[in-house]
Amino acid sequence: MTKLDRRLPPPPFKIKVVEPIKIIPQKERKLSLEAAGYNIFNVASENVYIDLLTDSGTSAMSDFQWAGLLQGDEAYAQCKNFFHLEKVIKEITGYKYVIPTHQGRSAENLICFAYNLNNAKMAVSNQFFDTTKANIETTGAKTLDLVIHEAYDTSLVLDFKGNLDTNALKNTIEKYENIALIVLTITNNTGGGQPVSMKNIAEVSKIAKSNNIPFILDAARFAENAYFIKLREKGYGEKTPRAIAREMFSYADGCMVSAKKDGLVNIGGFIALNDENMFNKIKERMVIIEGFPTYGGLAGRDLEAMARGLEEVLSEDYLEYRYNQLQYLGNSLAEFGIPVLQPIGGHSVNLDALKFLPHIPQSQFPAWALVNTLYERYGIRAVELGSVMFARKENNIWIYPKLELVRLAIPRRVYSQEHLNYVIDSIVDLYQHGSEISGYEITYDPGVLRHFNARFKPIVK
Ligand code: F0G
Repeated sequence: MTKLDRRLPPPPFKIKVVEPIKIIPQKERKLSLEAAGYNIFNVASENVYIDLLTDSGTSAMSDFQWAGLLQGDEAYAQCKNFFHLEKVIKEITGYKYVIPTHQGRSAENLICFAYNLNNAKMAVSNQFFDTTKANIETTGAKTLDLVIHEAYDTSLVLDFKGNLDTNALKNTIEKYENIALIVLTITNNTGGGQPVSMKNIAEVSKIAKSNNIPFILDAARFAENAYFIKLREKGYGEKTPRAIAREMFSYADGCMVSAKKDGLVNIGGFIALNDENMFNKIKERMVIIEGFPTYGGLAGRDLEAMARGLEEVLSEDYLEYRYNQLQYLGNSLAEFGIPVLQPIGGHSVNLDALKFLPHIPQSQFPAWALVNTLYERYGIRAVELGSVMFARKENNIWIYPKLELVRLAIPRRVYSQEHLNYVIDSIVDLYQHGSEISGYEITYDPGVLRHFNARFKPIVK
């Protein structure tokens, strides 16, 4: 075991309820992985010790949120919790209209519908998250990622590595006339939870406005992005995360949000925007796919928990604790020589699988192999952001993504420093045995969002 002498400041909360976890024997984990078709998404969570699959829907709610569940008004229409949520979202974002949805991807689906995306259109982003990309592409529209090229250098330290390349955006707008939507993902999940600067948001807004292209924020991690701006951007050090968030939202026409991240809830999402016509169009569609527009596929109690979570997430004490926890995990790994994506992002620490396992080619899914070994040997569940998730076939040739990452996503308010130390020790130990790990081949490929359902087998050396 390695020795870690760094300390974190104590969290701004104490524990009131505990959920027992246990580590099952390694041979059982091996069997469980095999039965899952070597796909970590198919492993029962009871067989996982530390679950870093996602920070989405995995937050620990506060006592205030739990208390809110008891105040759910389960009326079909116009329940009181909707009005509370609407007020909170209007105050945070400054937008006029609020539409709850059951999670982020249904908000994406409704936005694609509202902005009439189809096979003659194109949407651009710093980097689309996979569900956003899939929602857009299933309309027939094309997607294009225009994140700054530095984002693809995993060892380069830059304050705002999630920024969109505004020159590339201008060139793209000149080249193609069919851009129907510009999306900024804040923070950029796919690029390792890297923030976008206020300056960049403002510049993208200006370009969008002067070309009459709608501009929407994918704001799942808006509070984390606001905190990075506070820490790193000139002129924002004295502002509150709430004021910074409000300014971020002011530059866009609206936002689509998975509240399962910075909403601090286990389920929920929303759209907020200013355009009344779009609002009406979305409301009409809502009734078919999400339910009446004041409940958006959620119970009244879920709306209440979301309203309370959105208020809590902007607390500076919380955001400081969250930032420190991520920095601690990432910087400790880096100090032990582990190749982690730099700088450390807002919700995840990402291992660079191409450097961790240089002997495995992308065609044999090195990040996937790393995820499986982390589980089998230590009971830790991470997720692949690499070739299984992002490789695509063009003219019968596989094009592999520039980054091959293993994401350790940290659920909010869930794991302690001791848990993180276990993760650090495990990864340091694994790094010493990297050459023993072999690649994988796919035995079943379902196509769209294949990482959720694909099956694999190890390539025996
Ligand atoms: N946008 C971003 C930036 C996301 O990270 C996610 C989900 C979504 C949209 C979709 O939201 O899951 O509520 O439908 N990210 C999760 C993750 C799944 O693990 O990163 P959803």
